[in-house]
Amino acid sequence: MKSSETPNPKAERLIDVAIRRSFIIPSAEIYGSPAGFYDYGPVGCAIKHRLENLWRSEMLQKEGFHEIETTCILPEAVFKASGHAENFSDPVVSCKKCNQRFRADHLLAESPGFIASGAKAEGMQPQELADAIRKYKVACPNDLGELTDVTRFNMMFKTAIGAGEERVAYCRPETAQGIFLDFARIVRNYGSRLPIGIGQVGRSFRNEISPRQGIVRVREFSQMELEYFFNPKYQTHPKFESVKGEKLAFELEDGTVSECTLAETVERGIVPNQIMAYFLWKQERLYIAAGVPRDKFRFRKIPKNDTPHYSRGNIDLVVDTSYGWIETVGTAYRTDYDLSSHAKASGTDLSVFVEEEKKKVVPHVVEPSMGVERMFWCVLEHCFREKSPEKDWEWFDFPPSIAPYHAWVFPLMRKDGMEEKAREVEALLRESGLIVYCQESGSIGKRYARADEIGVPYCITVDYDTMKDDTVTLRFRNDGKQARLKIGELAGKIAALAKEGKVNADFA
Ligand code: ATP
Ligand code: GLY
Repeated sequence: MKSSETPNPKAERLIDVAIRRSFIIPSAEIYGSPAGFYDYGPVGCAIKHRLENLWRSEMLQKEGFHEIETTCILPEAVFKASGHAENFSDPVVSCKKCNQRFRADHLLAESPGFIASGAKAEGMQPQELADAIRKYKVACPNDLGELTDVTRFNMMFKTAIGAGEERVAYCRPETAQGIFLDFARIVRNYGSRLPIGIGQVGRSFRNEISPRQGIVRVREFSQMELEYFFNPKYQTHPKFESVKGEKLAFELEDGTVSECTLAETVERGIVPNQIMAYFLWKQERLYIAAGVPRDKFRFRKIPKNDTPHYSRGNIDLVVDTSYGWIETVGTAYRTDYDLSSHAKASGTDLSVFVEEEKKKVVPHVVEPSMGVERMFWCVLEHCFREKSPEKDWEWFDFPPSIAPYHAWVFPLMRKDGMEEKAREVEALLRESGLIVYCQESGSIGKRYARADEIGVPYCITVDYDTMKDDTVTLRFRNDGKQARLKIGELAGKIAALAKEGKVNADFA
């Protein structure tokens, strides 16, 4: 934990659980773990991939969109054109005594005097922040030292391309730029017409001033970003009609929260168009599918002074966590800002010929940008279960679609052929595409506990009866009840149960 961070026992405990159970590992741990970098252990890596695949399925495949993968390092010219070289900065202050640097808006937002004033630090300009820091007597959280003036700090990691050359480059702070750069070629190769969706999953890098809150604010993280390119003359979405009566919880600029239908969000101007409304609804479905209850998240309209430089309107998905409400998805109406900027800077035509209008149009873009780490954290928080009279251990209630394994397989004992039989069952299930793991050591009760502790939904036990009749027990994580099944039926049954999200033995 950074020294500037207020103690948060609940979150610290969950980070500890996540580290002990191979979800995450502090990066370069044996060299002291620089702040803001985490690795994924085997369990976390499996969950991360499943979250990413859920996103792929919902946001790309079901929509008929393209997925690409672009490089993490890009030349300076890209970020000059995109505005990141000039604008991608956060306000910073230093302590005059210990020299530690802090995010000025975060320090202010955490100071009791400022909290009592009811004001919001987000979006305040450096001079306003400096004035407020003086007014509310905010000091260094380490040693109460006086703070310097507020300056801006560009968060991109700088590097150079080539040996001995001076070609400045940056690690991308968002995956989106690669999509804008490849846009024209993809349209050409596919002979595509608007609208077109192009997405990618990949690493982004931000030299955060005060990385904190575990994996919530790190310096290297993954984003799942979709750029939806459309003709600005049509601010509509072909599937809007079928979902316009669906409700979303909205936190408005005045702080009030209300349930609005998608149609209302457009009519009342809460969102700029149907396209944005449609993708907010998709995010809601995705978060629920990943195990975050609907009453634990909502959408927040971002005030104009806090929207990014490229945006004509932003809506964040915010989730209730032990760190408070945190932004986990940002959806921006980027207009033609990026394509027009890159067209101008590179001298390349990035417009699309619109047949019906017999003219070229620079598409507008709506972008849902989802962070993997923040989603992962929210899933951990909301799926964590304490010990109870039914279970004498803490466990995770992950939906089977994002659990690290479909099932674990156990031999009751490592003798009389049961171990070999369990290996056969493991191989059979793997062949059918399920992610399984054979766990042989420890008492059967301990093995069930270990599986529960990382949220494995089903356990299969090979016992003496198996050796006689080729049946096994299938144990359900949530109620601990068991059913007896033929080995031949197992793969189909587990796949079907996982698809339906069944985690209790009420199917028989
Ligand atoms: P914040 O205000 O919390 O710094 P942001 O507004 O800068 O976030 P965006 O620029 O909208 O975030 O980035 C899109 C998404 O990328 C975020 O919703 C979040 O999920 C993820 N993200 C951004 N910065 C980080 C970070 N430092 N660590 C982990 N995830 C991040
Ligand atoms: N692509 C939006 C963001 O990362 O800020």
